[in-house]
Amino acid sequence: MRVLVTGGAGYIGSHTLLELMAQGHEVCVLDNYSNATPEVLTRVRSLSNGVMHDYVGDVRDADKLDEVMQDFQPEAVIHFAGLKAVGESTQKPLHYYDVNVSGTLTLLHAMGRAGCKRIVFSSSATVYGEPVYLPYDEAHPTNPTSVYGRSKLIAEQILTDWTAAYPESTAVLLRYFNPVGAHASAQIGEDPKDIPNNLMPFIAQVAVGKRDALQVFGDDYDTPDGTGMRDYIHVVDLARAHVAAITYAQDATGARPFNIGTGQSYSVRDMVAAFERACGKPIATKQAPRREGDIAAMQADSTRANEELKWEAAHDLDAMTASTWAWQSKNPNGYDGS
Ligand code: WQD
Repeated sequence: MRVLVTGGAGYIGSHTLLELMAQGHEVCVLDNYSNATPEVLTRVRSLSNGVMHDYVGDVRDADKLDEVMQDFQPEAVIHFAGLKAVGESTQKPLHYYDVNVSGTLTLLHAMGRAGCKRIVFSSSATVYGEPVYLPYDEAHPTNPTSVYGRSKLIAEQILTDWTAAYPESTAVLLRYFNPVGAHASAQIGEDPKDIPNNLMPFIAQVAVGKRDALQVFGDDYDTPDGTGMRDYIHVVDLARAHVAAITYAQDATGARPFNIGTGQSYSVRDMVAAFERACGKPIATKQAPRREGDIAAMQADSTRANEELKWEAAHDLDAMTASTWAWQSKNPNGYDGS
């Protein structure tokens, strides 16, 4: 299929481009490089013989979207473009709603004008909020606790209403758990612009000597070692879930959410120990208070994705840490080093 990938130069988008092209899909990227660099696409091209077009532009720019739709005539869209920093979303709520909600609306209007009826949406497990039960399945109540989480849930609701009004349309809502890891080539990976907010890139920067010590946020949670537990998923598995979603969307109608996780969870201390095995050196840690808004533990029930998308996570924890270390050690300054 011809697949338009908004935000295709980002961490998850770039890995998805490679998996799409490996399966023979033709791709077109639209990215405004607000949190990415064009170097990503140079590297993606060097790793693939597939067909990739690219445009610089913002998903809130209707004229740009019309131009891309007219040139490329996509049969499906994967919509990654958005903002994702939970803390920042509280400081800049209107900006988050503008990019994540208005961006999705503008994209849907442009798809309507171009006759494109399939979309795969980059959602998040954060739409569930405080767990009522675990593992979360897709029927778990949604009650996000941040502006970021609400912007994702509102976009999901808009997509659901859109498919209800246009019966031939389909929206696949992928609720990601905690993506980590990097491509096997060590040429593409996660490259946070500032101090990493997330655990794995922070550990990787400690290992490579860019940060002194990891702050462990909280050691008194109701978990076996007292630290927070998450369902970490290898970014290549996550990328493959998008390819599976594109195949599913070919014959589906309506909107459907899918959890994309492994069903396993690991603590902060498990992650540090696994990273130490991968890099062969100790990771310095400092105990710190709980981070506001954090929950003790979360974990996916991904049975629906296993059964309906015919997708399953294949990479284990050691593959996640080894690939992160390979990427970080070969690119200590991320894409800036090239
Ligand atoms: C994981 C664990 C921390 C950093 C967030 C967003 C979510 C999603 C992914 C999407 C927790 C602990 C972390 C550190 C630590 N976003 N930790 N020291 O909070 O599960 O999810 O990112 O786009 O919406 O909420 O992921 O990687 O930040 O934290 O101890 O320096 O690591 O307390 O237990 P989180 P995370």
